[in-house]
Amino acid sequence: RVPMMEPFRIRAVEPIPILTRAERRAALEAAGYNVFNLRSADVTIDLLSDSGTGATSIQQEAAAMVADEAYAGSRSWYRFVEEIEDLTGYPHILPVHQGRAGERILDAALLGPGKISISNTHFDTTAANVMLTGAEARNLPCPEAADLDSDQPFKGNIDLDALARTLSGPDGSRVALVLMTITNNGGGGQPVSMANMEAAKELCARHGIPFILDAARFGENAWLVKQREPGYERFTPREIARRAFDLADGTVVSLKKDGAGWGGGFIGLRDDALATQCEANLIATEGFSTYGGMTGHDLSRLAEGVREMVDPFYLAYRADAADHLATRVREAGVDTVRPSGLHGIYLNAGRLLSHLPPQRFPGHTLACQLYLDGGVRCSELGSLYLGELNDRNEVVTPAPYELVRLALPRRVYTQSHLEYVADVLAGIAAKPESLEGYRITHAPPVLRHFKVRLAPY
Ligand code: F0G
Repeated sequence: RVPMMEPFRIRAVEPIPILTRAERRAALEAAGYNVFNLRSADVTIDLLSDSGTGATSIQQEAAAMVADEAYAGSRSWYRFVEEIEDLTGYPHILPVHQGRAGERILDAALLGPGKISISNTHFDTTAANVMLTGAEARNLPCPEAADLDSDQPFKGNIDLDALARTLSGPDGSRVALVLMTITNNGGGGQPVSMANMEAAKELCARHGIPFILDAARFGENAWLVKQREPGYERFTPREIARRAFDLADGTVVSLKKDGAGWGGGFIGLRDDALATQCEANLIATEGFSTYGGMTGHDLSRLAEGVREMVDPFYLAYRADAADHLATRVREAGVDTVRPSGLHGIYLNAGRLLSHLPPQRFPGHTLACQLYLDGGVRCSELGSLYLGELNDRNEVVTPAPYELVRLALPRRVYTQSHLEYVADVLAGIAAKPESLEGYRITHAPPVLRHFKVRLAPY
């Protein structure tokens, strides 16, 4: 086994901002204690998202340089669509500017008032798009997902018993879509096994319901299947990803993750009539069906990127980097959701700051402190994001867990950057009881976490 090493060297560098503590304090206060309001120029290590934040390769930039920006049928489009068809096998590929545009278009065709979308866990914008059609987004995560500390290999799975019960129960006729999110971002970045996908697909087929993949992290899920699911050791990540796409009736993919792009995505479909319906919406709202809101540069970069993101050497490095950070974090006394996935490390802030009730937002408190102490930006996944509030903006129903996600941009930070993050966290973990929490001063009615404002408790 090759020891961990970044499988690339750095040719162009971007200086990172280093601020004083007083400057960070002023920046966070001006941001209303919401890290989404910070300027990136005030952030030293940005672990807010792994989406559209990666580094491109020299091959991607070379492809972009010779891109074709024709309005219709550009060379870049053909390069892109041939690559995506080869990866996924879908006869209809509809390009979109990012994943959620694909969700909006597919949901408009399949859902509507009274309908239900079932998922292992809908991502937040995915759930919002379902609800915007008037439908219900229902999550059925497997029971193993509830134990954050267990090392079960596939805690991203859907609960097959609950799915079977729902499909044959009174709500069955209202289910219009089963969406499998791989990997399960809302569920701690945990993978979904091929066996679970096969069984879910079979249930859907029996009830005549489309089985769709939200495959934003198709390469990372494939890597974890290769490592953890018996029978897949000898397949390449690309072959495993293809098997997953083969199982499904269609897919929606954000290429801002495993496409190594700054933007982009696509819908892949088998059904001709559904594709025609989606294409009309696409042309009206995203762009013509040979670019869909992407430039030729994007299309060319992505055609390269999807290959690089299933390279086993790249994926092995990515898994090792995530694992290394998780190990360092746990050594520092902060528990993480186990086992660690690839695109992020989820910190158990509720346990670290157990002296703070959910009403004081322990996850958010930890995220703010990582910024104040080290300029590290990351996001809360706890009661600030998911809890129910009363009309005085106090939490009445907390989220099941108080987590913080350290998302890992692709190929951007080196091991010493990750060591730095672990050191900042270790400083916090040495005296957690000194933190006092936050209260909400303003909360918007939908997608609260993006626009909420807070003050120290
Ligand atoms: N599905 C999943 C599982 C995602 O994680 C995301 C985005 C989307 C869909 C939407 O894709 O951003 O291209 O419109 N996740 C980002 C994140 C934003 O930080 O986890 P998009």
